[in-house]
Amino acid sequence: MCGILAYIGREPAAPLLVRLLKKLEYRGYDSAGIATVIDSAIHMAKDVGRVDEIASHLDLTSLRGFGGIAHTRWATHGGVTPENAHPHLSCDGRIAIVHNGIIDNYKKLREELENRNHSFRSGTDSEILAHLLEDNYDRAGNEITAVSKTVQKLSGSYAFVALFRQNPDVIAAARKDSPLMIGLGDGENFFASDVGAFIDRTDRAVFVDNREIALINTQGFKVTDFNGVSLRKLPTDVAREVSDVSREDFAHFTEKEIHEQSQTINRALIQTPEKILAVSKELAQAERIYLIASGTSYHAALLGKIYLAKFARRVVEVSLSSEFRDLEEFLDDHSVIVAISQSGETADILEAVGIARQRGARVVALINAEESSLSRTCDLSLSINCGPEIGVAATKSFTSQITLLNFLASQMAQKRRNQVELEALSKKVDNILAQDKVVRRVAHKFNAVSDLYFIGRGVHYPIALEGALKMKELSYIHAEGLSAGELKHGTLALVTENTPVVALNPEDATYEETLNSVSELKARGARVIGVSNRVSTLYDDFIQIPSVPNDLFPIIEVIPLQLLAYYAALERQADPDYPRNLAKSVTVK
Ligand code: AGP
Repeated sequence: MCGILAYIGREPAAPLLVRLLKKLEYRGYDSAGIATVIDSAIHMAKDVGRVDEIASHLDLTSLRGFGGIAHTRWATHGGVTPENAHPHLSCDGRIAIVHNGIIDNYKKLREELENRNHSFRSGTDSEILAHLLEDNYDRAGNEITAVSKTVQKLSGSYAFVALFRQNPDVIAAARKDSPLMIGLGDGENFFASDVGAFIDRTDRAVFVDNREIALINTQGFKVTDFNGVSLRKLPTDVAREVSDVSREDFAHFTEKEIHEQSQTINRALIQTPEKILAVSKELAQAERIYLIASGTSYHAALLGKIYLAKFARRVVEVSLSSEFRDLEEFLDDHSVIVAISQSGETADILEAVGIARQRGARVVALINAEESSLSRTCDLSLSINCGPEIGVAATKSFTSQITLLNFLASQMAQKRRNQVELEALSKKVDNILAQDKVVRRVAHKFNAVSDLYFIGRGVHYPIALEGALKMKELSYIHAEGLSAGELKHGTLALVTENTPVVALNPEDATYEETLNSVSELKARGARVIGVSNRVSTLYDDFIQIPSVPNDLFPIIEVIPLQLLAYYAALERQADPDYPRNLAKSVTVK
């Protein structure tokens, strides 16, 4: 998703904005740009490509001025072109804006503006903000009123920041449904989409909440509601671990985060007993429990359903955040929503939580980013504690989510899980990571592959789905995850000579039945990669995993699948950290 950044202070803005903009690259983007203001002039440069490339060929750091705004764009409306990159200017160049979100009514607004002789340079929805502000600024005479009049006309999701040629000493912003925060420095202040952008300069932050307008200058900040009425906002200290993010000696963040799992799995278990008790009670008292999530977090939710049934004897509903509306009518104050989200900024889940709260439901969140929008809109939250996850593909956050769900469900049961078993998992993860070369050899065989299948039963079915998602988003190979029991209901028709199938088949209650599925696949010429703690002559390739209690197999068997996707990406020269078209947190619907 797009990244927003603004700076006003005593240093030249452009060099600092270029450096800090790179901290937002992990969000995924296709173009970038900067605008600065000085001596009643706005200077702007933008293009398609990576920040470093644009900075060098457009000499971004030479833009003059001590106030500026910057942006990394993830295209939603309008193709990937230099004109569609942000910032966008008003007709006369007096105002520059950058925006994250989607203005739903931009077509109608653009028509009205064109009828008032505004001329547009781009095909984006965002550009209308510059022209609306231009109209309103003349009438309003000050930035807060200009922004207030502008947001009254908008529908959709947005966080935007605006620079004014006539007043280079302030930068204005507004927020509805897309994240925005203020960084408070010493004689300098920032706006950013996330704390990571300015954390190296300050750990004092103010969160701009929904339907708020903000202004920064070198001395401080001001926040109002959408009508311009001042609001009192207290700065908070934000976690500094975000600043120590580096690849260390790994080739990619994705590789590093896969390897961190031998520590992060244990960190998911570090929970205050009071919080675990409060969440357990909340769930125990609920008439109906709904687990909602997207993508990889949804696969964690599917496992959460199995664990809650197995340990807590609770049957729960699982829903994709984007499909949750269908369940809205059943929500009431006896319902509990468990929202699972690594970023805590996924637009679909924030909307689903908003619906739930309107219906009186309670919201429990499993999060990683503790300063996220989700963490501020839930009733209770548990942190998966896995530290910043930079790679777009979720890896360590997934194993932390399912570890915490397993822990929570077993804490809810009368017979408490032997925590030593969970803590011993870390050693088992090291065994798997030692299989690196075996996995890399298997990945090498996928080079000419166009379709891949992952099968599993019971607790292994969500892992089959997750293995397929990792393979798709990292290597761009089409992959499908399915329950092994479903093969005969259709997908077997696609299996021909050498079709590669990854079979998740540890020796548990599903072992024999899945081995039968493997035989059926072999009878049709498939090439089967077995992932198990028990070898079989049926497998063409075999990835050994250690034996663990049956319900804990998912936590470790997903790791070879993460490595498989990572190495398949390398084989195909894909960038594992920044897969094409994807973003780390999907802050638009
Ligand atoms: C997973 O590898 C993807 N990056 C994506 O599916 C992700 O899990 C999904 O967008 C949900 O993100 P969240 O956990 O931050 O809500």
